[in-house]
Amino acid sequence: MNATAASGPGMFTALPRQPADALLAVIGMHRADPRLDKIDVGVGVYRDETGATPVMRSVKAAERRLLAEQDSKSYLGAEGDQRFTDLLASIALGSERADDPRVTGIQTPGGTGALRLAAELIARTGRSPTVWVGTPTWPNHAPIFQAAGLTVRTTPYFDVVSADIDFDAMIDGLAQAKDGDVVLLHGCCHNPTGTTLSADQWRILAPIMVTRGLIPLIDLAYQGLGQGLEEDAAGARSLLAAVPEALIAYSCDKNFALYRERVGALWVQSSSAAVAVPVRENLLALARSLWSMPPDHGAAVVRLILEDELLTNDWCLELSGMRRRINDLRLLLGAVHPALAPIAHQEGLFALLPITPDDAAALRTDHGIYLPNSGRINVAGLNHGTVGRFADALALYLKG
Ligand code: LMR
Repeated sequence: MNATAASGPGMFTALPRQPADALLAVIGMHRADPRLDKIDVGVGVYRDETGATPVMRSVKAAERRLLAEQDSKSYLGAEGDQRFTDLLASIALGSERADDPRVTGIQTPGGTGALRLAAELIARTGRSPTVWVGTPTWPNHAPIFQAAGLTVRTTPYFDVVSADIDFDAMIDGLAQAKDGDVVLLHGCCHNPTGTTLSADQWRILAPIMVTRGLIPLIDLAYQGLGQGLEEDAAGARSLLAAVPEALIAYSCDKNFALYRERVGALWVQSSSAAVAVPVRENLLALARSLWSMPPDHGAAVVRLILEDELLTNDWCLELSGMRRRINDLRLLLGAVHPALAPIAHQEGLFALLPITPDDAAALRTDHGIYLPNSGRINVAGLNHGTVGRFADALALYLKG
């Protein structure tokens, strides 16, 4: 009652305004559009032929089991569900790396949590490495590393004209990287371009990374949505086998359709089993100060699936169905216009359309087709009924 009003404008008045996240804004714009034939090819979630993002059958079964059998929700610790991380390691890294004592990993809140933890760990080394990202990349990559105080620089990655990876330009760009710098690589199904480094390109990259002392940070967020679980991880695994040190950020958002449950993991491969000890201690200390402990539900569900052969088989079946649908849509899209032909042989949820930000805005306003200004589309946002209308509208803006 006697409190005096604070003098001055207050602490928060100095905060700069922030632009809305470009991808998340598209969700809101689509929601607000009353047109019945609107199409959402914005944020990267898998959709089925009816436009739904259903809970997977295997996830539902595991959730039922969890509900019936879970007898405590007491804390697990900063590492989260370690058995989840260990079982997932075999899927992501392969059994050889999963059993490698130089490799240690913990559960994280989604792939974003894994990337942020990786960034904080890198910052903690005191080496001030630059993180190199290809252009374009997921718009959240640079902010995550910068938030941890790291410098981010770019190398070329995608050539718009050929709609393919410009591997030579990428390697040339990396010539500026110095010993100890970190190179962010998309394990498969590149976001936003739908490209994936070929086995040969991974092979060429490995000795360059080793001789130049560059450390790969592999973002593996779409395993199983490209060519298959094994195929999508093969490149990353070959690089891990060749380099002494690496980081792998993993997301179960898409391949387990657990988006809002925030399920992910970070593994770090160190130069020796002895070095893996302080690495793990630092991961745990950082996690404790970032989020204390990750959310449990989604990780427990994935653990239950991976512990049970029948559930694992069913999950794999569901995942192949999702992959087939995406690839069918890719073939359809690739056939409707010469400028879209590359989409047929790209992979995963995303493709980058050869259109301008103004074209993307016109597609939203005039045609009710929702995509970010970057021209990225979520292929799975289409279905066999909408692909024709989408292609007709898009053709107005395509050259050639
Ligand atoms: C996307 O790129 O659309 C997804 O990864 C969702 C996100 O968090 O941006």
